[in-house]
Amino acid sequence: MAARDGHHHNHVKKIPLFPLLSLLCFASIFLVLSLSRKTSSNPLLSHQSFQFGQSPVPDPNVALGGSCDYSDGAWIYDHQPRSARYDGSCKEIFKGWNCISNNKSNGWELTKWRWKPRRCDLPLFDPVYFLEKYRNTNIGFVGDSLNRNMFISLFCTLKRVSSEVKKWRPAGADRGFTFLNYNLTIAYHRTNLLARYGRWSANANGGVLESLGFKEGFRLDVDVPEGTWAGAPAFHDILIFNTGHWWWAPSKFDPVKSPMLFFKKDHPVIPPIPPDVGLDMVLKHMVLFIKKNLRPGAIKFFRTQSPRHFEGGDWNQGGTCQRLQPLSPEQVEGLFSLKNNGTNVEARLVNCHLKKALKRPVLKTLEPGLSMQPDLTKKRKKKERKKKG
Ligand SMILES: *[C@@H]1O[C@H](CO)[C@@H](O)[C@H](O)[C@H]1NC(C)=O
Ligand SMILES: *[C@@H]1O[C@H](CO)[C@@H](O)[C@H](O)[C@H]1NC(C)=O
Ligand SMILES: *[C@@H]1O[C@H](CO)[C@@H](O)[C@H](O)[C@H]1NC(C)=O
Repeated sequence: MAARDGHHHNHVKKIPLFPLLSLLCFASIFLVLSLSRKTSSNPLLSHQSFQFGQSPVPDPNVALGGSCDYSDGAWIYDHQPRSARYDGSCKEIFKGWNCISNNKSNGWELTKWRWKPRRCDLPLFDPVYFLEKYRNTNIGFVGDSLNRNMFISLFCTLKRVSSEVKKWRPAGADRGFTFLNYNLTIAYHRTNLLARYGRWSANANGGVLESLGFKEGFRLDVDVPEGTWAGAPAFHDILIFNTGHWWWAPSKFDPVKSPMLFFKKDHPVIPPIPPDVGLDMVLKHMVLFIKKNLRPGAIKFFRTQSPRHFEGGDWNQGGTCQRLQPLSPEQVEGLFSLKNNGTNVEARLVNCHLKKALKRPVLKTLEPGLSMQPDLTKKRKKKERKKKG
């Protein structure tokens, strides 16, 4: 275990998937959260309202017919930006990820961009309102550094208006804070693949993988959640999951020297399967696990992958992030399409797998971030039918 943890730790430190984009996307998820909880604790209503973005308070900007696809929009440069939600002094930001205190030339400039959905407006994120609304609530982020960055962003934003916090590790989280005046807890559960994994080496007594010539690798149990988050579904009222970049990362899971070796019910999956097939198995089992263990009425999101922030090489191999502006839709297609097979192709690949795993309720609203509420969708439809009949 020690070896495994060491490895895990090193890698996590080494991968600043520097997620400016995720930071910006954070706003959209929290907007959706803001809209979704108020209505009532009834999960059906919550679901409905987040799907269609019905604002609890009538908003003159909300789109025609009360529906708005928040993912359909553009980045707008605000010449007179509203004040930044936080700055480089927030202690929770990793040093290496702190653009502003590292004097990145356009660090402040980047905060002036905001997302504008085509058919409506995103209200400004209001931290005091948020704290009030999520009183007595637990919110968990479960995933890799992209999710960690969203957690940090939320923490820094809230901390600025409410500084009395207790730092602790709820439900096995890596980090967590309770805003004491509101009894609102937010936590980050680190997991790269969702499923449990660790180093594997051939047993001298042989075995089925040994007989196939495997000597070293990573054992990945498709049906066992990683311990860092196994307790999260029973603890949190709102969960935001992600997984992605690690699945297509030959520098971490070298297909020859240290391949992913999938196990199910404690036995190797034979014949061995490639990571993309393994990802599908993991998603299937983890979605079931989450559904089984979730608190009643809890809201869950699965956010999709955002692109990496560096180009022209991996982040530690000459990759840089010199862009001064968000990418245009055409640039996004050029850079990230599956056809071009570029640096960020794994983001798209993972998103395809996610959409497949969470099939029915692919809600446009949460791109990035998919909902996983198949049951609720079904129930809601039934309810609607009842109403009509
Ligand atoms: C950023 O700039 C300030 C002011 O010029 C300087 O004091 C500080 O050392 C710089 N920080 C880094 C990480 O370069
Ligand atoms: C704080 O919030 C948690 C989570 O909802 C709840 O279980 C607990 O009872 C709350 N504590 C107080 C003092 O209200
Ligand atoms: C995509 O690019 C990677 C490395 O850049 C390469 O190993 C792989 O074979 C390419 N895949 C396709 C389908 O071209």
